Amino acid sequence: MKVVGISGSPRAGGNTEILVAEALEGARSKGAEVEIITLAGKDIRGCVAHATCGKDGKCLIDDDMQPIYAKLLEADAIIVGTPIYFGSMTSQTKAFLDRTYLLSKMGKKLEGKVGGVIAVGGRAGHELTTSTIMDFMTLQGLVLPSYAFAHSNVRDLGAAKGDEKSMKAARALGERVAALAAKVR
Ligand SMILES: Cc1cc2nc3c(=O)[nH]c(=O)nc-3n(C[C@H](O)[C@H](O)[C@H](O)COP(=O)(O)O)c2cc1C
Repeated sequence: MKVVGISGSPRAGGNTEILVAEALEGARSKGAEVEIITLAGKDIRGCVAHATCGKDGKCLIDDDMQPIYAKLLEADAIIVGTPIYFGSMTSQTKAFLDRTYLLSKMGKKLEGKVGGVIAVGGRAGHELTTSTIMDFMTLQGLVLPSYAFAHSNVRDLGAAKGDEKSMKAARALGERVAALAAKVR
């Protein structure tokens, strides 16, 4: 069983990376093989809705999303973490989510995988951010555990590490996601 975690922050070593890694530790404790993919420093452009999308099993945009498709296909579960930017997910996270359109056009390739969401912000917007990403997941056919999200209230670079509440919430999310993925398998 494999759980892949996506960190949608442009800040390498930021809170989202820390919390996604902690969620993956939770998943590992339930027997999962895990891998983190950070979007920081990656070139992932927005979907341009090519008329031929999905027809030859390949996205025509040649950027850093290409190797990620294979990792998503082999995953049993996907945890998406994002910082909150002006009340919602980062543009990096949105571009990543939109680019998975290819996988639905290839025949609902994400259907039946398990999903989980982490939203990190110093102030506000957690509910909208997680519910938007959970909507994305159900539209793509992922299945969600109860409490499919973890919220964290931290802002400064690396602060999540010292925030026990955030770390516990992320770890517990990873455990729930992996436990459901094991059942689904
Ligand atoms: C452009 C920008 C907009 C932000 N907007 C919000 C916001 O609306 N709500 C919030 O709680 N935090 C907001 N923040 C704070 C970040 O979400 C917070 O610093 C978070 O911990 C960053 O995660 P990272 O360390 O993984 O990059 C904003 C930060 C930036 C740079």
